[in-house]
Parts: sequence; structure tokens; C-alpha cells
Amino acid sequence: MGPWKMLREVTATRYITPLRSGGSVPGVVEADDLGTYVVKFTGSAQGHKALVAEVIVGELARALGLRFPELVLVHFDPAVAEREPHQEVRELHASSAGLNLGMDYLPGARDFTPEVAQVFPVDPLEAGRIVWLDALTVNVDRTVHSSNLMVWPTFGVAPPRLWLIDHGAALVFHHRWDGTDPRKAYDFRHHALGHYGPDVRAADAELAPRVTEELLRSITAEVPDAWLADEPDFATPDEAREAYVTYLHARARASEAWLPTDFPSAQELAEENARRAARTRQGRPDWLKRVPDLHGKPAAEQDWSVHLG
Ligand SMILES: Nc1ncnc2c1ncn2[C@@H]1O[C@H](COP(=O)(O)OP(=O)(O)OP(=O)(O)O)[C@@H](O)[C@H]1O
Ligand SMILES: [Mg+2]
Repeated sequence: MGPWKMLREVTATRYITPLRSGGSVPGVVEADDLGTYVVKFTGSAQGHKALVAEVIVGELARALGLRFPELVLVHFDPAVAEREPHQEVRELHASSAGLNLGMDYLPGARDFTPEVAQVFPVDPLEAGRIVWLDALTVNVDRTVHSSNLMVWPTFGVAPPRLWLIDHGAALVFHHRWDGTDPRKAYDFRHHALGHYGPDVRAADAELAPRVTEELLRSITAEVPDAWLADEPDFATPDEAREAYVTYLHARARASEAWLPTDFPSAQELAEENARRAARTRQGRPDWLKRVPDLHGKPAAEQDWSVHLG
């Protein structure tokens, strides 16, 4: 076993709210350790595999030095949420009694939307590491309009940084184990960080050697047996764990085959932005050319009528 501990277990003591922006309708709860957690429910339509992906990819991200909130196992008794008024949410809770997955709630965090992306700088090396992780784990849900990235903290004493959340749609290969090729290319065209000139080559050199079988074994050991037991392809949970280890290890070794490399470079992006800004200026009436260029800035000034007096 590596240096990794098992996930902590807590018990939900108070139900705060459902997160309706999430397709699986996670719930925010307070627990007996006074922590606040976003709970992904075992009874959701996404099923156990989404929770398996959350644990494996999230803990892999953490092990590789990316920012990812703590995961815990949450004992959930639907009785704590008895005041939830919506029948479909109540049914989700009823089918999730027992052990669920919790993620530390980041208070005040903002979703990394295209609007936030316009003003929030991301270092190409950090972008490269995140794209690399997504390509390794075949995460199809880190796109421009569904980034599953958050900016936190948004005010206060520390500088805001990117945090990863929601890896439920990663590891797509585990939906069909036979015939999945670890060398398969990754579709990165709509990746949320594609426009930051992600340095995936540097990330590959740094991270690939760190994805060892030992690390993968210690991470898959953190997945509760119950979430691996209903896999028809495997006789035991450990057999399933070993399949994840084998696949991800082989894929990490084969990065040359899937490394997404043709992102525009920082210089190409700067040139493209300059061209776009010039086109915008050209299209403006003379009086508007004197107005400061707002490219890449928030929409507060987009009502040009204020300049018409
Ligand atoms: N740890 C967290 N701290 C603060 N807010 C969070 C956290 N996790 C999720 N959220 C908020 O809840 C929203 C939904 O969460 P998440 O994406 O994990 O749910 P999901 O059901 O897997 O969603 P989907 O599959 O629709 O993307 C996020 O976009 C974010 O706004
Ligand atoms: Mg999401």
C-alpha cells in the first residue's frame, strides 16, 4: 500500500439543500464532524460507476498535486432530509440510505464559466496538467460550458485558484471493458482550458512517471467494495480494482498515442486575439473607436447606448 489513507467516514446530521444545477441532484449536508459536504448519492441515475470514477480520478488528481476538495464517505439517513419538499429528490434520498460519497463544500466558490474564463488567468503548465489528467482518465465532462472547475476562494485573504470537482463522467472505458484500447485518442476540442495554451508535453514529462501501479492500487483500495460488487465483468471487487489499475497504468505508459498536442500556442492565441480586437475596432463607428477596448473584460459595459448620451 502506498502512503494513502482510507477515506474518512462521517454521518450526515443536517440536510441543507439540493444542488439542482447538478444532473445527479447532489445534496449539501452538514455532518457530525461539523464539516459541510456535497453528497453524491448512490441511488442517483448515474449509478455506482459515477462514484467509482469520482474517487479514482479525484484521488489521482490529488496525488498528482492538483487542487481537489477532500472526499469522505457519508452515512446518510433519509430521515435527516424529511423536510425536502420535492418528491423526486425524496425518492433519490430514499434509495440512497447508507454509504454515499461526500466532497468538502467550498464556501463561496464560483463555477469556472466562459465569463469567468475571460478574466481569470490560468498558467499554461497548470492547464496542461489538468488536460493531461482528463486525457489519461478519458474525462468527457470538462468542456467550455460544463467545466467542472471552480474558482475558490473568490474573496478573502488567499488568491483565487482553480479547483477540480465532479469526475463522475470520467473513466468512460468502464462502461465497456472489452475492446477498450488504452492508446485511444482523447477528444479535447471543447476542453474548458484549451484556450490557455496548455503545456501538455511538460505535464506529461512531469506526471506520467508518477502514475505507478503502486499509486493506482492505493487509490483503487479507497473505493468501497459495495460500489464495485455489481460489476458483471468481474468475480470480486478486487478483480475490478485490478482492471482499473491495469488499464490506467497501460494508458499512462502509452501517453505518446493520446497526448492532445495541437492546441494553439500562447503566441498564436495572442495573435488571434489581436486580430479579433482589430476586426472589432474596424467595424466600429469613429466615435466608438475612442472607447476603450473591452475585449476579454466583463459585460458590464456592453450597453453601448450609455456612450450616445
Ligand atoms: N465541493 C463543492 N463546493 C462548492 N460547490 C460545489 C461543489 N461541488 C459541486 N458544487 C456546485 O454544484 C454544481 C453541481 O455539482 P457537480 O457538477 O459535482 O454535480 P453533478 O450532478 O455531477 O453534475 P453534472 O453531472 O450535471 O455536471 C457545481 O457546478 C457547483 O456549482
Ligand atoms: Mg458537473
